[in-house]
Amino acid sequence: MPESTKPESTKPELTNETIRLLKRRRSLKPFNLIAPGPTPEELTDLLTVAARVPDHGKLVPWRFILFQGAARERAGRLALEIKLADDPSLSQAAREAELTRFAQAPLVVAVVSRAAPHAKIPEWEQLLSAGAVCMNLTIAATALGYVTTWLTEWCAYDPRFAAAIGLAGHERIAGFIHIGRPNVEASDRPRPALEEIVTIFEA
Ligand SMILES: Cc1cc2nc3c(=O)[nH]c(=O)nc-3n(C[C@H](O)[C@H](O)[C@H](O)COP(=O)(O)O)c2cc1C
Repeated sequence: MPESTKPESTKPELTNETIRLLKRRRSLKPFNLIAPGPTPEELTDLLTVAARVPDHGKLVPWRFILFQGAARERAGRLALEIKLADDPSLSQAAREAELTRFAQAPLVVAVVSRAAPHAKIPEWEQLLSAGAVCMNLTIAATALGYVTTWLTEWCAYDPRFAAAIGLAGHERIAGFIHIGRPNVEASDRPRPALEEIVTIFEA
């Protein structure tokens, strides 16, 4: 493998705080994300940097919905209502799972894609920009000592839930980013070997 594509760990001179953060970042399950969540000042910072992403055409094709405090339980009740409409015999455990869906981590940020047809900017690029928002938010929260998990699950794809939380017809959930303090240490998971995902385009 050429020198320029060797993993960073073999090049200690490249190690810095941001690289170290990216190397240790891991998701945890929402039930492992506990209070306290971000302060109002931290939240402003998190959303400010989350919105500082590449955005072809400067369309701002995304927005945020915040789920905090008792509103997290309201979101769970909305999810349960939909599930019960589909299956009135839903088990008690499944009902509980819906009710607590947004109420485990102290903060859940929905990143909403507003991608729409545009004369010059493909919708694909607008969607990618929403993904970048999710990742900036994840990294920024990690930098402040929080742990996150980026989830979608059925709620992200159900038009009834989308309408219930205020999405317009063309809007889509890019991710629900659950944010809290970790109550366990996360061990890493296997990561792709660079040999398997890197090819060199030859001259
Ligand atoms: C767009 C998107 C949606 C995801 N939705 C889910 C989900 O619904 N449920 C789930 O268990 N993991 C989901 N994940 C994966 C987790 O966010 C998490 O990244 C992964 O389980 C652990 O990887 P990490 O520790 O490197 O973050 C999703 C990831 C992405 C990028």
